[in-house]
Amino acid sequence: TQPVRIAPSILSADFARLGDEVRAIEAAGADLVHVDVMDNHYVPNLTIGPLVCAAIRPHVTIPLDVHLMVEPVDALIPLFVQAGARIITFHPEASRHVDRTLAMIRQLGCKAGLALNPATPLSVLDHVMDKLDMVLLMSVNPGFGGQQFIPATLPKLAAARARIDAHVAGGGQDIWLQVDGGVNADNIGAIRTAGADTFVAGSAVFGAPDNDGGYRAILQRLRA
Ligand code: DX5
Ligand code: ZN
Repeated sequence: TQPVRIAPSILSADFARLGDEVRAIEAAGADLVHVDVMDNHYVPNLTIGPLVCAAIRPHVTIPLDVHLMVEPVDALIPLFVQAGARIITFHPEASRHVDRTLAMIRQLGCKAGLALNPATPLSVLDHVMDKLDMVLLMSVNPGFGGQQFIPATLPKLAAARARIDAHVAGGGQDIWLQVDGGVNADNIGAIRTAGADTFVAGSAVFGAPDNDGGYRAILQRLRA
């Protein structure tokens, strides 16, 4: 069976206390810190850049999982590598040359991920499977935390899982399957059954009551 990785999204954290927030989720058992980068161009929201990424880096030992919702992407990649990202994911619509962008991320020493919007078909993966470390399926339209999980993501996850398993069976490298948007303790079981191994959760985690016991409890519930 696949491992389970939980990646709290700091989009829903207290931005005035980000250092404390990321330390708290690591102490509570998070596997990754999911960093949502939005540019008010590819998505209608504006969040954080490499400076904030670099500022939180020393507060945790778990990897920074940087989700770029920006267009164009290429020029920002080295800046996020410099800022301490370990995983960099982008949307294929936001790069003229997806194969080249994937290769660039790996060349700079990070894991490379491709993020598919709810209406983006899995066929964008067709010719780049060997260049991927992670596939991110969006289960909401990107731009905001706190949205409702789109149920059509479940069969899409199952189809993505089958592609990845076939790739691995054919001698290919492992590829993480991440789901992002509207994940909570009520639907995570079905999402897991559909084949995801890496779970982003923003409002479900940071909406929890307090900063230590509360985060630990919700992370344990999600993992269970
Ligand atoms: C949406 C972001 C998600 C979001 C998830 O554009 O990519 O990572 O923060 O937040 P929740 O878990 O609240 O849907
Ligand atoms: Zn995200």
